[in-house]
Amino acid sequence: MTAIKKIHKWASLIVGLQVLIWLGSGFYFNLMDHTKAKGTQYRISNVQPVNIEIERLIEPEALLKKQSEQSKNDQNKSTITIVSITLSQLLSQPIYVINQNRALYPHFLNEYTLVDAYSGKEVIIDAEKAEKLASASYKGPGEVINVSFLENGNDDFPKEQNATWRVNYDDELNTSIYIEVGSGRLVGHSNDDKRFADFFFMLHFMDYGMEGNFNSVQIILFAFITLWLTLTGFIWTIELALNGQYQFTLFSKNRAVKLLNKKQQPLGEVILNAHTNLLDGLTENNINIPSVCGGGGTCGSCRILLSPAAPINQAEREKLSVSQLKKGYRLSCQQFLAGNKTITLVN
Ligand code: FES
Repeated sequence: MTAIKKIHKWASLIVGLQVLIWLGSGFYFNLMDHTKAKGTQYRISNVQPVNIEIERLIEPEALLKKQSEQSKNDQNKSTITIVSITLSQLLSQPIYVINQNRALYPHFLNEYTLVDAYSGKEVIIDAEKAEKLASASYKGPGEVINVSFLENGNDDFPKEQNATWRVNYDDELNTSIYIEVGSGRLVGHSNDDKRFADFFFMLHFMDYGMEGNFNSVQIILFAFITLWLTLTGFIWTIELALNGQYQFTLFSKNRAVKLLNKKQQPLGEVILNAHTNLLDGLTENNINIPSVCGGGGTCGSCRILLSPAAPINQAEREKLSVSQLKKGYRLSCQQFLAGNKTITLVN
């Protein structure tokens, strides 16, 4: 039973802390500026469509043929499987996006080849192009400080699995713009406001690994800890009930009890309630009994002396010696008024 109580206390500490975090972060969500939290203060939302000269476009069929010939000639390249060809635009340039590996979402691992829709030449998103693409979506006052290549994801968009270019600006919000290397897709804008909001999202969704995933190991573990808290609390409640610590009466009963000191000299009388344990009842009467565990029956420091006939529960068997129990020592947090007429304070 001691182990169950210990598990219950540690589980309640962990669950209690997380509940506080939920309350705090939930409160912040109510107060936060949702526009700022998106990190898009300096994002241009409308991309000007490019005027495509249809007659100059390469036929997709010809493009496919060219691609398959190239892969045959290039010994190093394995055979390319093309899933789709889409006509799109990069800045003012019409391009074909040839998708070799299409995942369910753009942020999942995808594989693309970009081809100039007029000339048929492959388009590579290098640092220079990434900077141009980023700046085309930016309306802030900053200048580009640097452009860096991120092969595996990034902290601002943890769900992104594709390699990206990060373009940093020197504005007051420390804006970063992310461009996917394979397709030139604008992954998103981020800045200090978004990072601050993301921190609270991380706390609220227990995404402590910053995986951008609600279904994390921590949350599964937390669910098990909560289950343990419930089960151990249930077992503990049954134990208390079996030890007669829950009494169902309609009206609360108060009665006077005599207090004695260690030498059995009278100290006076206190009025105790039948439904309050002796530790709490004495505390309410300004008599402080030592307690480390707060009435949990695990520290053994709230000893008092009652009649040797007073009932004994499991916590008292574990914390008091047989000779102490025979003399009438009990834990005040585990005892109730019952038939007690005198209480000897031993500490
Ligand atoms: S207060 Fe700790 S055992 Fe009673």
